[in-house]
Amino acid sequence: MRIHDPSIVCKLAELHVELQYGAALSDLTSLGIGGTTDLLRIKKHESLPDLLSLLDAHDIPHKFLGGGSNLLVGDGELPWVVLQLVRPEPDVVLDGSLARVDAAADLGRMITFCAKNDLGGMEGLIGVPGTVGGALRMNAGAYGMQIGNYVREVTLYRSASRKVEILRGDQISFEYRHTSFAPDDMMLAVILELPSKPYKEILKGIRICNEKRRLSQPLGQKSAGCIFKNPPGASAGRMIDELGLKGLSVGDAQVSDRHANFFVNAGHASAKDMLALIADVRERVQKSFGVSLENEVVVWNA
Ligand code: EPU
Repeated sequence: MRIHDPSIVCKLAELHVELQYGAALSDLTSLGIGGTTDLLRIKKHESLPDLLSLLDAHDIPHKFLGGGSNLLVGDGELPWVVLQLVRPEPDVVLDGSLARVDAAADLGRMITFCAKNDLGGMEGLIGVPGTVGGALRMNAGAYGMQIGNYVREVTLYRSASRKVEILRGDQISFEYRHTSFAPDDMMLAVILELPSKPYKEILKGIRICNEKRRLSQPLGQKSAGCIFKNPPGASAGRMIDELGLKGLSVGDAQVSDRHANFFVNAGHASAKDMLALIADVRERVQKSFGVSLENEVVVWNA
């Protein structure tokens, strides 16, 4: 979708929103898949309510993009514009055991920064790509740790009330790869309360998790992490592997030969290819195990 109206373009500039015409979403997602649309980069969080009123007034549909690391975007010209926060400097401010973090901060950099200041707890998450906002929205987790455990307070824009709101951690439910945030809530900032730990000890934990990840996941390839959530008490990766589906492909979309719940873009995969592969694998698992796998990857299909 393209914004041509000069009066809108002018208002965007007044709201400190940078308009990038025809951005390729394939460049903004870790899968390297996705069509084109206008990208609106928000330099001042305060302008968000006015920006959304402007888009509403002109019937311009929108979606919020975080780090694009758990996302499968449709092909071709997309029927909505994409909004993304510009990361401020600094994006993490420490106050005792509290870390005030901007939603646009990179998750791994934030964890490293806190670690260097003797604040730990999230060692397992360091290799998870994406922004802190994206991690919060899905309650990202790995190696027995999840970000939701450390959330003291979240500042977000609620599309339902059209207001910036602050929620305490206990007002939000954080479950396995799921939160009580609405799909159109936009994360703006979070206060995390982290346990004190010496940097050396945190580093040891980080190294152990990184090594496990390196041995079991296709880190050098374009992927969105795990495609499916694990069903209760089971592993989607193990089930897909047991069916001998590693290497199965549709076009350049391929089940990783390293970890069967990672589907990689081995060249120029389209969203259509990836969706067909996901549907095929889901059907085979359903047939053999009687389990309906739920997507972990978020799909924005046109
Ligand atoms: N397994 C196989 N074949 C495979 C993959 C896994 O047999 O191709 C077996 C493993 O040998 C192991 C079991 O399945 O016995 C579980 O595998 P793994 O330890 O890799 O964990 P997972 O359940 O597949 C989850 C998360 C990962 C996270 C790891 C480590 C989900 C969907 N996945 O994977 O998170 O990094 O545990 O904590 O919850 C993600 O969410 O995108 C993600 C990568």
